[in-house]
Amino acid sequence: MTVKEIFETMEYGPAPESAAEALAWLVDQGDRFGHFIDGAFTDPGDGFDSCNPATGEVLATLTQAGEADVDAAVSAARRAQPAWAKLGGHGRARHLYALARMIQKHSRLFAVLETLDNGKPVREARDIDIPLVQRHFYHHAGLAQLMESELPGMGPHGVCGQVIPWNFPLLMLAWKVAPALAAGNTVVLKPAEYTSLTALLFADICRRAGLPRGVVNIVTGDGAVGEMVVAHKGVDKVAFTGSTGVGRAIRRATAGQGKALTLELGGKSAFIVFDDADIDSAIEGLVDAIWFNGGQVCCAGSRLIVQEGIAEAFHTRLCARMDKLRIGDPLDKCVDVGAIVDPVQRDRIAQMVAGCTAGEVHQVAAEMPAQGCFYPPTLITGLAPSDALMQEEIFGPVLVSTTFRTPAEAVDLANDTRYGLAASVWSENLNLALDVAPKLVAGVIWVNATNLFDAAAPFGGMRESGFGREGGWEGLRAYLRPVVKAAGKTKPLAQIVPFEGDSSFHGGLDRTSKLYIGGKQARPDGGYTRAVHGKSGKALGEVPIANRKDIRNAVEAAAGAAGWAKTTGHARAQILYFIAENLEARADEFAARIDAMTGIRKGASEVQASISRLFTYAAWADKFDGRVKGVPLRGVAMAMRAPVGVIGAICPDEAPLLGLVSLMGPAMAMGNPCVLIASEPYPLAALDFTQIIETSDVPEGVVNILTGSHAELAPTLARHAGVDALWCFSSTDLSAQIEADSAASLKRTWVNNAQTRDWTGAAGEGHEFLEAATEIKTIWVPYGE
Ligand code: NAI
Repeated sequence: MTVKEIFETMEYGPAPESAAEALAWLVDQGDRFGHFIDGAFTDPGDGFDSCNPATGEVLATLTQAGEADVDAAVSAARRAQPAWAKLGGHGRARHLYALARMIQKHSRLFAVLETLDNGKPVREARDIDIPLVQRHFYHHAGLAQLMESELPGMGPHGVCGQVIPWNFPLLMLAWKVAPALAAGNTVVLKPAEYTSLTALLFADICRRAGLPRGVVNIVTGDGAVGEMVVAHKGVDKVAFTGSTGVGRAIRRATAGQGKALTLELGGKSAFIVFDDADIDSAIEGLVDAIWFNGGQVCCAGSRLIVQEGIAEAFHTRLCARMDKLRIGDPLDKCVDVGAIVDPVQRDRIAQMVAGCTAGEVHQVAAEMPAQGCFYPPTLITGLAPSDALMQEEIFGPVLVSTTFRTPAEAVDLANDTRYGLAASVWSENLNLALDVAPKLVAGVIWVNATNLFDAAAPFGGMRESGFGREGGWEGLRAYLRPVVKAAGKTKPLAQIVPFEGDSSFHGGLDRTSKLYIGGKQARPDGGYTRAVHGKSGKALGEVPIANRKDIRNAVEAAAGAAGWAKTTGHARAQILYFIAENLEARADEFAARIDAMTGIRKGASEVQASISRLFTYAAWADKFDGRVKGVPLRGVAMAMRAPVGVIGAICPDEAPLLGLVSLMGPAMAMGNPCVLIASEPYPLAALDFTQIIETSDVPEGVVNILTGSHAELAPTLARHAGVDALWCFSSTDLSAQIEADSAASLKRTWVNNAQTRDWTGAAGEGHEFLEAATEIKTIWVPYGE
């Protein structure tokens, strides 16, 4: 080709990256890998091949772990954990720093190995994946260093079981391992079966960097190994990234085991383009949103929602840009779109597209490579919001598109999904973009940008995209729990049974207590009540027995009070103070009621503690703010705190008033309507309290109070799709049922496993509660140069 011809066609020549070093490393390891347990590689056993999806060649043979391997890995992690935690923040920071340096020194080897194993363009592995991995370890070295002074009273969970997917093999490892180690935990990690090689190289790096034995353990194999890791009794915390279906299975498998759990699952993220957007930028953004890593990205901007007036022109320009994408050998530095990770995935994508009969399909003009596992970048326009491909995660280079007329319609379309991972908004009018961003139900929102990630900026989803955040202080907290001292006195959970006695009511006018739903006293749907007795057997009153219908009514009332989230923190504080004031005015009456119900003279102090707790949450209502993250990109990431939504809370039995106030307070303060199930053995104080609520300007539906059997009501709350979070502090251990039943809707759950909490002390209030009442929403905005 002459220079003149080159200028005319502007064809790129190939710029291949050498695979020699990465292949040599595999040869050095004997092309066969065992697991990495207790600081050493085990002998390779029976297993499976790991292939290069761009060529089909076998790269290495991996070992399928069995029970004994997982046991050995968990035991090694358990043995190593106390000493690792004891090293202290600085000691661990030094190790994380050493890992970051080693990764940096071997960055090209990591990038090439990642490309060989996964099929992603080496340009991406080199410029995005591996630099982000380094940044994650450096950042977490810093978090480890500062943790003790910044997060006093918090300590590690112990052993973490971590399962990761194949789309960002080393980056997902970094997102899991760095915070776990920074916090003082040790790790058993299972990489995805298609892409375990960089995890094994990382294991080699851990050994060479002098990481103490057993701190990081890596077992390889398929989903069965993942199942063993997450269900292992010796694992205290589980972290998973992958498909929503497997996330649900893990929620069920770990139900009632007392394990902390974070899930980063699928998405169908909206890419909203307004007619005043900078169209060239938006189109380049879209290339990154959906063709970065071949669209195998959980937060891929896979749903284009473009304003009607510009839709046709936008699609035309997009198709022209698509036709310029270079698809082929991922080791070629000029390639934009590489291979799909495995034929199984490619076939899934092809099947989904083939099954789509609506809309118009445009696929790139470029020829696909003759061999290897490739799928052409695809655009499908003219779909309706309910079409399967508008709703289902494709996890490939396929963009679907629909149009909107008004900003409100754009928001509705964007939120018309069961997922809630990410979204991006494109408009040159920042008033508009910043008006729309908070209305989008997504954990990450990019304004005039897409797919930006940083170790300081929390990442994670809402709805069925999972729960928990990764990155920053917020992500670190998922690997920490309050240490026992801070948690106060705890006792093993023991069911408190109601006193029995004479059912006839003596003395005074019999008042019929009712449920409190939607700002009104409501008779129970079933029409049943039960007598409440004091210790001596004296009847104290009758309480309604709520049933499923009452729960549904209460949830509906709470959902109708969604406007509470939009009130200001100041206004919410005023109402909480007003409740405290009104409670104070009737303090003696409440104290006497509590004494009579519990048979212990602690009512007066419980009422005073409740008033103090209401003050605490009135104080927090306008102070539990997010953080602004100085990310090393052109912009800032604002980690805002949003209410989680409708909170169902099963109140502690042992503290009939303080327990209820301790759950209602943070829920209300953070803008959540709530459905509270009162103490089961001592329910009368909660129903008396409805009169305080009624006279304190609480908008209807914000607080709903029911009485009845915890065990009977919990499943209805756990299964109800309208309940966004469910907390349970009953003296009956309902954790297994609640966690299993909540899996269908993937709601956030917070349950007491095995132990009671000291509601009078510091463990009864504060950050743990406020965090459970909020979700982090990370909004990236352009800022500065
Ligand atoms: P997957 O969710 O099955 O695999 C992710 C990881 O979980 C792998 O390490 C796998 O071995 C492990 N695993 C599988 N079953 C398990 C179980 N029962 N318990 C514990 N661990 C288990 O994802 P897969 O099958 O590889 O991909 C299927 C679809 O999932 C994709 O097409 C995509 O839609 C979605 N996906 C989403 C990801 C995300 O980041 N949101 C990542 C990977 C897949």
